[in-house]
Amino acid sequence: MGAVLSAAPATGAGSFEERCSDMDFVDRFRLGMQRLASGVSVVTSCSPQGRRYGMTATAMFSLSLEPPCLVVGVNKKTRLGGMLHEARGFSVSILSEEHQDVAEAFAGRIPGVAGADRFIYGKWREDASGLPILDDAPAVFVCEIANILEHSTHYLLIGSVSDVYVTDGEIDPLVYFSQEFTGVVNALPAPLPLT
Ligand SMILES: Cc1cc2nc3c(=O)[nH]c(=O)nc-3n(C[C@H](O)[C@H](O)[C@H](O)COP(=O)(O)O)c2cc1C
Repeated sequence: MGAVLSAAPATGAGSFEERCSDMDFVDRFRLGMQRLASGVSVVTSCSPQGRRYGMTATAMFSLSLEPPCLVVGVNKKTRLGGMLHEARGFSVSILSEEHQDVAEAFAGRIPGVAGADRFIYGKWREDASGLPILDDAPAVFVCEIANILEHSTHYLLIGSVSDVYVTDGEIDPLVYFSQEFTGVVNALPAPLPLT
């Protein structure tokens, strides 16, 4: 099962390719994935009892336009993963560079801040369906749960998008790359308003 990794100039410790070939395969997979720059979102939901859940996610992508659907990869061990089957819907708030603290909090990286306490980071409000959404997010997708597929450690959560909020102004997306939060050097101007 050999992954092909491009050879970098040899160093004293052997070429990059040689060093990688000694790695555990899962570590090589992780190393490969660290070379993918990903946008960062917070996925939230709410239990029938009104308890709020939220988790930082990069495993989010647009699935289809007709109908508008998206997918989130959710680890079954997360609190969100544990409540998905009782949830009616979920929301995905895309983060900008200024939301790095929100990303850290909802990834469980701020000591002592867990569960619903995470919502003290960021300006959250409820949409009409009661889902927490980030008020100043560049975009928010409100979803009904269309399907929850299971694959080993994860769920593939498929959302049928019922509402979209977008802000205007310049967007500086938050990016996760090589295990670090960063930004995009050439941020794009504001998208055209929807008509
Ligand atoms: C940049 C980043 C991206 C992440 N993406 C995902 C993801 O797509 N799916 C997932 O299940 N966990 C992801 N995680 C991990 C969860 O955010 C983290 O485990 C979180 O604490 C889970 O919530 P819980 O502590 O309430 O269970 C990511 C973490 C980071 C730092």
